[in-house]
Amino acid sequence: MCGIVGYIGNKKATDVLVDGLSKLEYRGYDSAGVAVFDEEEIKVRKYKGRMAVLEEHLKEEDLKGTIGIGHTRWATHGEPSDRNSHPHTNVSGSIALIHNGIIENYMKLKEWLIETNGDHFKSETDSEVIAHLIDYYYKGDLLDAVYKAIEKMEGAYAIGVICKDEPDKIVAVRKDSPLIVGLGENENFIASDIPALLKYTRDMYLIENDEVVLLTKEGVIIFNELRQEVKRDVFKVTWNAEAAEKEGYEHFMMKEINEQPKGIHDTLHRRLDKDDHIVLDGIQLTKEDLDKINKVYIVACGTAYNAGLVGKYAIEKFAKIPVDVEVASEFRYKEPFIDDKTLFIAVSQSGETLDTLAALREAKRKGARVLSVVNVVGSSVSRESDDVFYTWAGPEIAVASTKAYTTQLVSMYLIALHMATTKGSLEEAEYKKIITELKSMPDKVQKILDDTKNIQQIADENFNHENAFYIGRGIDVNVAYEGSLKLKEISYIHSEAIAAGELKHGTIALIEEGRMVVALATQDRLYQKMLSNIQEVRARGAYVIAVAKEGNKEIEKVADKVIYIPDTMDELTPILSVVPLQIFSYYIAVARGCDVDKPKNLAKSVTVE
Ligand code: G6P
Repeated sequence: MCGIVGYIGNKKATDVLVDGLSKLEYRGYDSAGVAVFDEEEIKVRKYKGRMAVLEEHLKEEDLKGTIGIGHTRWATHGEPSDRNSHPHTNVSGSIALIHNGIIENYMKLKEWLIETNGDHFKSETDSEVIAHLIDYYYKGDLLDAVYKAIEKMEGAYAIGVICKDEPDKIVAVRKDSPLIVGLGENENFIASDIPALLKYTRDMYLIENDEVVLLTKEGVIIFNELRQEVKRDVFKVTWNAEAAEKEGYEHFMMKEINEQPKGIHDTLHRRLDKDDHIVLDGIQLTKEDLDKINKVYIVACGTAYNAGLVGKYAIEKFAKIPVDVEVASEFRYKEPFIDDKTLFIAVSQSGETLDTLAALREAKRKGARVLSVVNVVGSSVSRESDDVFYTWAGPEIAVASTKAYTTQLVSMYLIALHMATTKGSLEEAEYKKIITELKSMPDKVQKILDDTKNIQQIADENFNHENAFYIGRGIDVNVAYEGSLKLKEISYIHSEAIAAGELKHGTIALIEEGRMVVALATQDRLYQKMLSNIQEVRARGAYVIAVAKEGNKEIEKVADKVIYIPDTMDELTPILSVVPLQIFSYYIAVARGCDVDKPKNLAKSVTVE
């Protein structure tokens, strides 16, 4: 969702802002803009469309200012348009503001401001209200005005503000929307996320909720809600800017698909000692902890939710503890059975998904212990959890999640196996077998990646379908959900996934001549049943693309096309079978001319409800 960047220093601000915003494009946006203090006034340039539109306009004039704020907007209140894009200003244009989040009481505030000052609003956004509110309280002290304004604001926000009358500062605030500060020499930065600033610094402050930050060229001061100064340790980013670059790949998605062997390897090996025992480094899952737990709740959104479904399978199968999996947006408004005997597992790549964060808080309030599986170090979910199991996927930029999913799967398996061995529900020999197999996964995924010609060809022959169905049984159906999600989000082909045995209760009515059905048939135990389901759809004219374990020649007789994955134990197939589905979706999207890394209407980090 919206990306924010701010700069104060000696460089030309527009260069830093445009560069930083371009690193946040992955968050999803429909317009972009900057405000720069230049020649004694604040100049705002903002346009609907891609960053390139803003860049073109900025080339036409030379804004030399060295302090400014920039924004990429993902429309919530008001259509994507020049007028609704950020930065927003007060009436005189002396205060400019960027905002990520939603001001829930903006209507009330707007009415009150109109009554007090007349209607000077130029946009339909909730964000513009903040600029007018700060102006209302401004009496020569920007920091004070911002403090007074946020007292009146309800909702989620990360904001950055500059003021013509105090051109030596940026004031920023964080409440439930991500905000980091970058520290440089005689220059400082704000941003929504680390990649925006990596070109300039690896020293960051991770800003906490309800904190207000005052940035000047020379320094950064963080205040809490009581206006007291707080000390913060510098967070040193260990990965480099290249990790967030395409490195010769046409799209981030393909680069990230190819990074999966490394991500799986790193996630696994960071948690194994030399005897292949799982090391949790203080994560509270000892025998005593587990004895207290009678239930696990896994809560997440999107792809992370799909990984949670596999987590349920693994925990129930190996550790014999009942697990519920719920999408976070539903969990929040239900009355889930949660108490201090519940282990709540939040799964999130970004660690900033608002629904997941809110669900986590709800679970904590009810007394559950919270373990999170998170990719972004220092993110909100990680900070608010009792324990964190980090995935080692590295930065994921493409909106469609790939390496985050496979590393989440590995994490879920490790958590399940640790629970099982600690509880004594899994024999050591069986454990060793599974761990040995898990350790072979990076090579097996690499084998799929080394030869993708068949998958690309099938994609090239099938990119013009407008509907697709993904079917599977057992653990395969969870991968069907993820495969189907990948296809629809980047290629815009309508796609649904369903348990193969459920087809006959409705969905089979939609199977007709030429209908594309992707059938996962990797489970030895359920193979014959799955074969029957494939026959059922074939009999109605479906065009079947099957995913099966190598060596299975029989399936070629019933499917139109077969994609093979290396042989492995049934329980672990998701780590392999999802990979060809990611590649398949990728090539279909490319063939359809879609913007693979930035699908329309979607955002990488969903920081609104
Ligand atoms: C968005 C992204 C998905 C992601 C989901 C959950 O919808 O586009 O790729 O799976 O959010 O994100 P999280 O960061 O919590 O895993």
